[in-house]
Amino acid sequence: MPVPDARAAGTVRLADCDVPRLGYGAMRLPGPRVWGPPRDRDEALAVLRRAVELGVRVIDTAWYYGPDVANELIAAALRPYPEELVLVTKLGGARRDDGSWYAAVTAAELRAGCERDLRVLGLEAIPVVHLRWMDQPDVRFEDALGTTLDLRAEGKIQRIGLSNVTLDQLEQALAVTDVATVSNQYGLGLRDDQPVLDRCAAAGIPYLPFFPLLAGGGGADDRLAAVAVRHGATPTQVALAWLLARSPVMLPIPGTSRVAHLEENLAAGGLKLTEEDLAQLEG
Ligand SMILES: NC(=O)c1ccc[n+]([C@@H]2O[C@H](COP(=O)([O-])OP(=O)(O)OC[C@H]3O[C@@H](n4cnc5c(N)ncnc54)[C@H](OP(=O)(O)O)[C@@H]3O)[C@@H](O)[C@H]2O)c1
Repeated sequence: MPVPDARAAGTVRLADCDVPRLGYGAMRLPGPRVWGPPRDRDEALAVLRRAVELGVRVIDTAWYYGPDVANELIAAALRPYPEELVLVTKLGGARRDDGSWYAAVTAAELRAGCERDLRVLGLEAIPVVHLRWMDQPDVRFEDALGTTLDLRAEGKIQRIGLSNVTLDQLEQALAVTDVATVSNQYGLGLRDDQPVLDRCAAAGIPYLPFFPLLAGGGGADDRLAAVAVRHGATPTQVALAWLLARSPVMLPIPGTSRVAHLEENLAAGGLKLTEEDLAQLEG
């Protein structure tokens, strides 16, 4: 199996840089159900530092992971941030005191989330912010997008990305702004979002599939296991290699709280699937 190195996955253009096409998602750093302190704080910090050592340049996070836990760990592990690191946060969700999730896309909620990201991450401006869309009564997508554009005009965010959006919403956004990234759910076992991925590929927009392992089926899919055996790899690595082979704009952000899993995931960048592998996986 190749050594873990995000750069082996090749690069895609994001935020005026060529970034490796394997990133890291920080959602698994807080405690169970993405709530409260990490299982092992030292390991959480080690995961973040090792990710950067192994070439990761895109880290996906959100103030509502914890809340504030993922962002606090990122700041503790990585400040001063490497110049070429692209932190990607998201606005549009929130948590109740019992840990349950809800949509928070009013102007006041988006603004409050942005201030929280800036404060805890210790940034003056966030490199990329995903407007994470969830339907909320009385809030239109274009209004939430308008608030995000205002935040960019105020210098609080540098680039706008979109998450959990339809093709129509992507087109609506593209009519009024550049879109830095799109992050929707996609994996071997869940390919409904293919039209959005195709549109991103046509426009050169990096596509960050969320739940790349969970939506990919992880080890549960027999096809992944069969291909993995041929390469001396793990099913998880094959799920990631399949995503990378699927599109030149694909930039998976697998989440983990463990250094061993991080290294396993980043080694997938060097796993090249054959036509036979791809046919078997997609059959
Ligand atoms: N935009 C959005 O709405 C949205 C929604 C969801 C997620 N996200 C982002 O997408 C990222 C990825 O999603 P995710 O973390 O929820 O799901 P994921 O990457 O598909 O899977 C993560 C799960 O797989 C386990 N795992 C990771 N590597 C493994 C390996 N090599 N072998 C076995 N198990 C492994 C992790 O547990 P361990 O900790 O034990 O490794 C964790 O339970 C998140 O971290 C988050 O940043 C965005």
